[in-house]
Formats: sequence, C-alpha cells, structure tokens
Amino acid sequence: MLKGKKIILGITGSIAAYKAAFLTRLLIRQGAEVKIVITPCGKEFITPVTLATLSKNTVLCDFFSHDDGAWNSHIDLGIWADVMLIAPASANTIAKMANGIADNLLLTTYLSAKCPVVVAPAMDLDMFRHPATAKNLVTLQSFGNFIIEPTSGELASGLDGKGRMEEPEEITSWLIEFFKKKSRFSGKKILITAGPTFEKIDPVRFIGNHSSGKMGYALAKTFADQGAYVNLVSGPVSIGLPNPAVKIHPVVSADDMNQAASTLFPDMDIAIFAAAVADYKPSSQSESKIKRSGNDLLLNLIPNEDIAAKLGRLRSENQILVGFALESDDAVNNASRKLADKNLDLIVLNRINDPGAGFNVDTNRILIIGKDNIHKNFELKSKDNVAKDIVDEIFNLMINGSYA
Ligand code: PMT
Repeated sequence: MLKGKKIILGITGSIAAYKAAFLTRLLIRQGAEVKIVITPCGKEFITPVTLATLSKNTVLCDFFSHDDGAWNSHIDLGIWADVMLIAPASANTIAKMANGIADNLLLTTYLSAKCPVVVAPAMDLDMFRHPATAKNLVTLQSFGNFIIEPTSGELASGLDGKGRMEEPEEITSWLIEFFKKKSRFSGKKILITAGPTFEKIDPVRFIGNHSSGKMGYALAKTFADQGAYVNLVSGPVSIGLPNPAVKIHPVVSADDMNQAASTLFPDMDIAIFAAAVADYKPSSQSESKIKRSGNDLLLNLIPNEDIAAKLGRLRSENQILVGFALESDDAVNNASRKLADKNLDLIVLNRINDPGAGFNVDTNRILIIGKDNIHKNFELKSKDNVAKDIVDEIFNLMINGSYA
C-alpha cells in the first residue's frame, strides 16, 4: 500500500510515456498523492490534460506560468515528496541527471530532491547498451538513486531487445516493497565497526592493513536507508558520510575502536563487526621518530583485545551479533570456529584469494554461516548489493528468531 505517500512522477520524452497514465492511476489507487513533472519533450508523447485528470493535480513543465508569472518551485516539490520516480526516463534525461545539467523543471527538481530517486529507463536497445548510457546509470547508482531495470521485448523501433520500461504494475509493486523495506529497521539501533585500525609505532609510522571501509560503510548506508539509527565506529578511511542519518565515531587504533564500540554496545539492538582490527600492537610507542641505524630493529608486539569476542561475552539474548571472517586457508572451518568462539549469530566469510572479494575492492563474494551450520552462498556483487543481502539475512533472523 502507498497510503499517504507523496510521489513526484517525472515523465520524459519516450513512447513509454503512455504507460505513465496507467502508472499514475495505479499509484493513486494504492493511496498515493501524485504530482507530475513532465519535460517539454514528454508533452509530445502524452498530454498534460490526461495526466492532470488522472493525478488530480496540475501537471508542471515550465519554471513559471507564462500567464501570471507564478513560480513553480522545484525546491518545494523536492522537499514535499517521499520519493521521486522518473518513468519513463529517456537516455537524454539520464545523461543530464548523471552530469548535473538543469535545463528543465524535471531536472532542477531532481537536483534539489531530498527524497530517494527511482529511475525506470526506457529506450531503444542500442541506446540502452551503449557504454555511455551504462556509465550514466552506474553514476546515478553511485548517487544513491535506484534503477528499475528495463525489460526485454518488442521496442518502438520494431527491434527486439532490452529497453522496454518496466510495466506500471511492476513499478508500483517495486515502490510498495521499497516503502516496506524503508521502515523495517525503524527504531532499531545498530553498531557497525568498519575500516582498518592503525597501531602507532612512532609519530610517523604505524602497523595497518588494506581495509578501505567500503564494506562497513555500505552496511551503514543500507541500514540507515531502512530506517535504522546507525553508529559507525570507523577506522581511518577516505570515504564520505554514507547517509546523513549515520553517526560516525572516528577512531584510529584498536584500543580506540574497542572503547567506542564498548561504550555504545549495551544500548544497541544489532552489532556488526566489519572492521579489520589489528590483532597486535607495539608494546610501546616511541614519542620521537625512530632513527635509522645499521642494526636490525625489533618490534615487540602484544595482542589487542578482540572486540567482537569481548562483546559476544557481554551480549544479551535480545541482541543480534554479526561478525566477518577474512580467511585464506581452511576458510569455512576457521569462520565457523570464529562464529562459535565469539558467540555470534552470523558470520560473513570473504576470502583473501578470491578475485574481486575482500579488501579494498568495490565488490565482494560472501558465504554467510549461521548457527546449526546453516550456509548461504552469494555471488560476486558490488559491496552495496552485498550489504543489501546481509541486511536481508539479518532482517529474517530478527523476524524469525532463528537462521534458516
Ligand atoms: O574495508 P573493505 O576494503 O571494504 O574490506 C572489507 C573487509 C575485507 C575488511 C571485511 O569484509 C572483513 O572481512 N572484515 C573483517 C576482517 C577481519 O579482520 O577478519 P578476522 O577474521 O581477522 O576477524 C574476525 C572478526 O572479529 C571480524 O568481525 C573482526 O571485525 C573481529 N575482530 C577481530 C580482531 C579484533 N581484535 N577485534 C575484532 O572485533
């Protein structure tokens, strides 16, 4: 159901614009309030009269009314909406969105929208598979926009292939599911550790590792997108805030991370340990830069506290704890052992020698292991999509009380 949801429907110049009439009707039937913004080219394919009648709202196209000069505020529209859906989205509009071009009301509304943006492309198959379009769609996804993939079939050109805008029924179902997911962690407090830790040797040197923080930040974004209040305890990384709703607690060393995570933990519903925490630190740190000499330099290393294991001992029955395991040899057995030793509910295994997985890449391939030896394998995907899979699995565990 979309009762009370405020939707901006953006319509661009495409044969599929006729489907926007059906889409509007379905959205209204589901209880949504729909305001339509159409591009000048969109009006060549469907008339504002039809759309205004179906949406029960004036259809906006120009920056201002030519009759009385009244201003159509794209900023107010962007603030008003719960979601902006651009369907059909032509290759031209997608390219302009990806490049910040603002030469019509739909595009200025897009650029000032505070709400999630969903794009349903519609175009000829060659335009859809052109590298420029593919790159633009990836750019939109990197902005956090959602893409509803076009389907394959007969196209306006008479050709057959991928480029048909998804059917209005499917787009409506997508939105219903989206709003359901958007609030499924609302009120839940989540702790996530992410990134590497740096263990100081002297003022200029440290022991670190290759974690970029991408996996943990993707998890933080996904949880926040689904209504959770996220505390992200992050080692030194160079990525920006994943979502304004995420509170970042920057730390440097494993001791700092331990302290921040332990303080937050008692109040958390779910804790996820995605950080690559240094297992050892130098027993002492030099306050001045260690000078080069001809002799060997021996560093004495002492163990850091295992944060996940410590919090696993302190946990309550109601909390959900999820660890990661980064393994090279005997991966599944080692990960299963960590699951049990650290008293976790789930462990996410990624392998160092698996191409495209683990440290410092944009993709990952994971196996999730639950109690009772339940194993679930996932394909190589972007870390954003891996995060969605992990969050779905945690949601199932939360709802069902067990992992199956
Ligand atoms: O940051 P990216 O570049 O995106 O890479 C992601 C990742 C590879 C770092 C991530 O997917 C991952 O696997 N994180 C855990 C890496 C790791 O240190 O694994 P481990 O097997 O050594 O540790 C097992 C678990 O105990 C982990 O949940 C770890 O966070 C936790 N741990 C380990 C040591 C320690 N002192 N404290 C901990 O909490």
